[in-house]
Amino acid sequence: MSSRTSDVLVVGGGIIGLVTAWRAAQRGFATAVVDPEPGGGAAQVAAGMLAAVTELHYGEQTLLGLNLASARRYPDFAAELTELTGLDLGHRRCGTLAVALDADDRAHLRELHALQQQSGLESEWLSGRECRRLEPMLAPGVRGGLRVDGDHQIDPRRLTRALLAACERAGVVFHRDWAERLDVVRDRAAGITTTDGTRLGAGQVVLAAGSLSGRLAGVPEAVLPPVRPVKGQVLRLTVPQRYAPFLSRTVRAVVRGSQVYLVPRENGELVIGATSEEQGWDTTVTAGGVYELLRDAHELVPGITELPLTETRAGLRPGSPDNAPLLGPTELPGLLLATGHYRNGVLLTPITGDAMAHALTTGELPDEARPFTPRRFTKHLTEQPA
Ligand code: GLY
Repeated sequence: MSSRTSDVLVVGGGIIGLVTAWRAAQRGFATAVVDPEPGGGAAQVAAGMLAAVTELHYGEQTLLGLNLASARRYPDFAAELTELTGLDLGHRRCGTLAVALDADDRAHLRELHALQQQSGLESEWLSGRECRRLEPMLAPGVRGGLRVDGDHQIDPRRLTRALLAACERAGVVFHRDWAERLDVVRDRAAGITTTDGTRLGAGQVVLAAGSLSGRLAGVPEAVLPPVRPVKGQVLRLTVPQRYAPFLSRTVRAVVRGSQVYLVPRENGELVIGATSEEQGWDTTVTAGGVYELLRDAHELVPGITELPLTETRAGLRPGSPDNAPLLGPTELPGLLLATGHYRNGVLLTPITGDAMAHALTTGELPDEARPFTPRRFTKHLTEQPA
């Protein structure tokens, strides 16, 4: 058993852990990441929509503020990573078209449009004909849609590679093992022990293990993050050069109550997602999942059946009770959280890195991230009975 010490130890090497480690190292902290496979996780599956406006939901207006703030940071964030690493992130300002296939879908989209307008967001209602003029591959039955030019995309796999490279350049140390247990010494998080028995000491520990964040042994019950896995199955197709441009922007819809989206990359990849399933830590790709995605995507864009299907994969979103992330210090001194990003992990990467670096440096969250303190879920411990 050996013991190595860092200022900041990040548990989890997905995009949230990596951006936290990178920003921490930039602030001068000796930083380490523990993960058996850094750069894995949900970002390897995600489509990478930066969809603050089209993924707006009732009751999530506070989260909208964080989503929009992170979306605004994306151009500079992507440029900084590219300049540092020489890697292109596939940041594409192509916009999104959310369409309706029947009267129910149209009513749903009208409601979304009203909510967007109340929230001061830019989106334009289009007739079915106008939608097809923008995207000729759309089905003739499309009844209308919302054009949102501000919802962009990034390639999460490229983003991951760039974050790994940026971490390496900044001197982040990688421990390729599982974190088995949080070590608490005199009521303070003091590091972790890995499955091979190595003790990794740290001044501060950041738990950023996605949907696994609630399972680290040794974390006191009161601060254990209430995250759960929400499975998403995703397909990747390839658009042959002769069909290009197949779609020029992200196209999405709610079909029979399920979200389906088609995200076209500049390199010809077409990502179709995603199911939303509460099945525990199961990442099996099922015939039913693939069938439903293809069926729904085919209703929107019939021509997809011509395209090669190149990959099927499932990932786990880290869901939280209010669909918003848990960021910053916990009630246990020395332990911080960066988890629970649910549907918005890729979108929230830039602001999470900044907020966590601020919290690691000052002990507090910056103003825009304060509502996302993990303490919102432990409040009842300090409340007095009425
Ligand atoms: N934000 C897309 C998804 O979670 O499927």
